[in-house]
Amino acid sequence: MARDPRHDILFEPIKVGPLTFRNRFYQTPHCIGAGSDRPGFQAAHRSMKAEGGWAAINTEYCSVHPESDDTHRLSARLWDAGDVRNLRAMTEHIHKFGAYAGAELWYGSAHAPNMESRCTPRGASQYASEFETLTYCQEMDLDEIARVQQMYVDAALRARDAGFDLVYVYGADSYIPLQFLSRYYNKRTDKYGGSFENRARFWVETIEKVRKAVPKDMAVVVRFAVDTLLGKDGVEVEDDGMKFVEYADDIVDLWDVNLCGIAEWGENATPSRYYPSGHHLHWTRFIKQVAKKPVLGVGRYTDPNKMLEVVTKGYADIIGAARPSISDPFLPKKIEEGRYDDIRVCIGCNVCISRWEIGGPPMICTQNATAGEEYRRGWHPEKFAKKTSDDSILIVGAGPAGSECARVLLERGYTTHLYDTAEKIGGHLNGIATGLPGLGEWGYHRDYREVQINNKSCRSADSGTGFRGQEAHRQAGHRAQLRYVFHGDELGGATGDGRPRGDHRLGRSPRGVYAFHARVLEHHAPQPRTEVQGIRGALLHPRRTRAYANYQQVGRWVQGQLPRQRRLTPH
Ligand SMILES: Cc1cc2nc3c(=O)[nH]c(=O)nc-3n(C[C@H](O)[C@H](O)[C@H](O)COP(=O)(O)O)c2cc1C
Ligand code: SF4
Repeated sequence: MARDPRHDILFEPIKVGPLTFRNRFYQTPHCIGAGSDRPGFQAAHRSMKAEGGWAAINTEYCSVHPESDDTHRLSARLWDAGDVRNLRAMTEHIHKFGAYAGAELWYGSAHAPNMESRCTPRGASQYASEFETLTYCQEMDLDEIARVQQMYVDAALRARDAGFDLVYVYGADSYIPLQFLSRYYNKRTDKYGGSFENRARFWVETIEKVRKAVPKDMAVVVRFAVDTLLGKDGVEVEDDGMKFVEYADDIVDLWDVNLCGIAEWGENATPSRYYPSGHHLHWTRFIKQVAKKPVLGVGRYTDPNKMLEVVTKGYADIIGAARPSISDPFLPKKIEEGRYDDIRVCIGCNVCISRWEIGGPPMICTQNATAGEEYRRGWHPEKFAKKTSDDSILIVGAGPAGSECARVLLERGYTTHLYDTAEKIGGHLNGIATGLPGLGEWGYHRDYREVQINNKSCRSADSGTGFRGQEAHRQAGHRAQLRYVFHGDELGGATGDGRPRGDHRLGRSPRGVYAFHARVLEHHAPQPRTEVQGIRGALLHPRRTRAYANYQQVGRWVQGQLPRQRRLTPH
């Protein structure tokens, strides 16, 4: 199917400072659990998106100095030459596919727990984080302000050395530039507090210093939460939001705008249960009215018609995406080639980011089981190892795991039989998508597999017979009989959690999908790789051996005490 010509505009190149983006698709910074410590993971995950057609791809938040240390979560870092070397693997791999690479320079202030470095972070004023436990910052004097600004400059120069094309002065999610701008945090009475110009001073000066330091062929990007949703206490879009963009427009090459402070990140990475795609537009559309530089906005954009609306109605110039790029790294390519049915739509379940909050482990995605396994297992979301035998394979259970298993086996060329006692593919997901309020979009998980299985089984004469729920029901009352029917062939069971080796735990976790991928693709990379085997020239930092477990335990204990104390408070 040819691309709808209305979507051509999404593929028009656009100038961003000294760079020319090949199209309007941009992966906004998002964490994956790789940071600078897992260079192979970082490089393989990001460059997959470059291969999939994104014009620019960014790191996650990238610490400028040990004073901004997010351990026990794993952020990117540009602290030293070792980090430069490791992140260079990412930029080199992205460049191979003709995309640009960006580093999101980050100083967290009170919101950086500093579990590893044990530094006390500095802030606009002194306050305890409303997001982390037991973390706080000390108010800076003027010398210290200059020192923190220099940390950005030094990190920007390291970003240059690592081969990045874009460098951020990141001020969304309540990190330090936004803390200065927002009255909620900034209680200063000197030239960095009070009036709008004073509150904007730290950020503007930092952008200027970074711009002056980096070469002319690097673009300077500002990520700005244009409304912190705190009313007059914070930043409101029609007040300081628009004012700041107008004020700093001359020194910025690209505005990456989003919403809210750190404690309400769900207003930014919006779950589909509560927010439709494009929820941010209500706020971000104001920014285009004042910015002369390109603006990019996020909003779980997966539908090319919605993207078209964003661009043609003048809400933003560039489509920013975090989750849609995770669930389908090839989203731009698929739109470009008119393969709309093949788009693996992000269902807005927020498993990716919620899992981050349990301590920043390597990311998983319910829609894309290959996410985070591009390096370790060598998995590719669009390329499949060819079958290694002529076995036909029976999959019992057409829920999320079973149907994904069938899809991948068909891609590999196996004759595949997918059975379920229900009429429809989807398993327990059908009940969730239709039975629980707000979770209708989760049904896209099923729809994608249904369409793919039907398309694949039609295309190949000897592979796949499509879905035969009723037949399974008639043929066998229970699964054990099916096992005999297909004696000699490989058997995949997808009953509940998708564990294929007789483990019938009634799990409902999306890990079932993952388990099936491990089984189905294992021929591709039998032994998962570790980072130590490494990508060319990349090293692990021996000092980062995660020896901070005790701190975590203490933190948990303290957290555990707090609710109990609250419960004792009389009403
Ligand atoms: C797993 C995950 C990690 C994220 N990490 C970051 C981050 O490191 N820095 C940042 O500025 N935003 C981060 N974000 C926010 C995204 O960049 C984006 O603003 C938000 O998810 C909304 O865009 P989307 O609807 O396209 O996902 C993260 C989002 C997700 C889902
Ligand atoms: S499908 Fe769910 S886990 Fe995957 S990117 Fe979207 S929100 Fe995250």
